[in-house]
Amino acid sequence: MAGYLVEDKRKVTTHRLMQMKQEGKKIAMLTSYDYTTAQIVDSAGMDVILVGDSASNVMAGNMTTLPITLDQMIYHAKSVVRAVQRALVVCDMPFGTYQTNCTEGVKNAIRIMKESHCDALKLEGGVEIIETVRKILDAGIPVMGHLGLTPQSINKFGTYTVRAKEEAEAQKLISDAHALEDAGCFSIVLEKIPAALAARVASELTIPIIGIGAGDKVDGQVLVVADMLGMTKGFTPKFLRRYADLSTIMMDAIGHYIEDVKNCDFPNENEQY
Ligand code: KIV
Repeated sequence: MAGYLVEDKRKVTTHRLMQMKQEGKKIAMLTSYDYTTAQIVDSAGMDVILVGDSASNVMAGNMTTLPITLDQMIYHAKSVVRAVQRALVVCDMPFGTYQTNCTEGVKNAIRIMKESHCDALKLEGGVEIIETVRKILDAGIPVMGHLGLTPQSINKFGTYTVRAKEEAEAQKLISDAHALEDAGCFSIVLEKIPAALAARVASELTIPIIGIGAGDKVDGQVLVVADMLGMTKGFTPKFLRRYADLSTIMMDAIGHYIEDVKNCDFPNENEQY
């Protein structure tokens, strides 16, 4: 395994992310759901690894993030934590585990922290969940907010289009962001909103703002690992840059293996006992 591609090998903390914002250093964040991928992502020098509930789509093939369970998220988070030495590991609280009431939210948050040993949790929503966010923070758990396109609410909105284009929705997003910062969140993800609005939030808030489809004037970026590596097909939002075409590379390699097996080329005499 290659060494870290960054010089600073110290474990990334929420405090360090805050310093990075103050120093104008961008934060790189990527999802991971399993041990092998997380080891590569961490070794490459990622600052934050998100065990996203996008595991529901990417790992399980569901249409939305809603079906993934608390047990499944803990399983993914444990696998990632085992692999990671440097990155801050943030785990998504899945749909239905914090929207009911504070007590339930805190209980589930503590369970994820206790069983997975991740570093922080991410919750979708603003003022509607602020009491739960406060209580989770009171329990000593760092919280990352998530505003804009919030995939756990897809059934309410009915579409994955750009959010907060209208003034009223933009104003609500700004006040939600302030409420999350005031409550004590260490960072906020802004998903699929106009770049100018994201820039305004990033400049008004002191905590780091991580964007996905939120332009370049924020403090960091996050992508879904399978999308940016080109493993997923047919998902082509404007914000997604593909850094590799792993799907083609894997298909070629697997096709080659099938051919070798069928042609009795594998294993050869050096590949047996
Ligand atoms: O679950 C996820 O992957 C996310 C990112 C899109 C931010 O929440």
